[in-house]
Amino acid sequence: MDPRPIGVFDSGFGGLTVARALIDLLPHEQLIYVGDTGRYPYGSKPQDEVRAYAHEITEWLVETHDVKLVVVACNTASAAALESLQERFDTPIVGVIDAGVRSLVMASDSRNVGVIGTVGTIGSGAYQAAVAEVDDTLRLTCAACPGFVEFVERGELRSDQVRVLAQRLLAPVIDAKVDALLLGCTHYPFLARTISDVVGRDVTLISSADETAFQVRAMLADRKEEREGATVPPVFLSSGDVGEFERIGRMLLGPEMVEVRTWKHGSVGETS
Ligand code: DGL
Repeated sequence: MDPRPIGVFDSGFGGLTVARALIDLLPHEQLIYVGDTGRYPYGSKPQDEVRAYAHEITEWLVETHDVKLVVVACNTASAAALESLQERFDTPIVGVIDAGVRSLVMASDSRNVGVIGTVGTIGSGAYQAAVAEVDDTLRLTCAACPGFVEFVERGELRSDQVRVLAQRLLAPVIDAKVDALLLGCTHYPFLARTISDVVGRDVTLISSADETAFQVRAMLADRKEEREGATVPPVFLSSGDVGEFERIGRMLLGPEMVEVRTWKHGSVGETS
């Protein structure tokens, strides 16, 4: 009914966890994915800088590809920019924070939950506010995990070094004895085996990817904007090394990562 593509973006590979869920749940939709690897990581940058990047990418997706919806597949950018993006653009914009919190609340029996994310996300207080809004009786322990994203961006998912780092950074959520832990950075599901091994297999790990994809499906159905007909391959763009993005991206996402094009900073207004 609406053949326009869906725009998705992240600082790099993390948003591929959301792209995977979208491809699986909505196979007829076409995705245009921007991985801003040339300017990653977002998690250690000031909020206004991340907000400017998010606006630049969204403007490009809307102007150049006439996307019907934008998924901010990055917690750091969702925390810094979702509200201002929704104010500025008429195109519907979906973040990953509320979706993750919904899944977290559903998964916990003990009402004692944890969220891990980048320094930017945890420091923004966005999760603390989102959890309190859903249920202010929940006990929430948050921990920033600087360094995790860099391991994923290198494609290093199960080394001894990442395990040692995880043991140190996850200590607060282990001590708090949470029964559900939200991976509040879209890169972290790629480290799920290591994280699960460190926090214990009785802790349920939650990723916002599936819930975000369900939200997108519901929004498209409501607006009667689903795409029908033959499947069109997703388009991937990177502001960094495209060969590297293709190699690591294929390992992380799978065979849909066929070709990666260059996305230039400051390319707002240019045609593709
Ligand atoms: N994947 C992003 C997030 O969800 C950002 C990671 C980064 O660039 O620091 O927060």
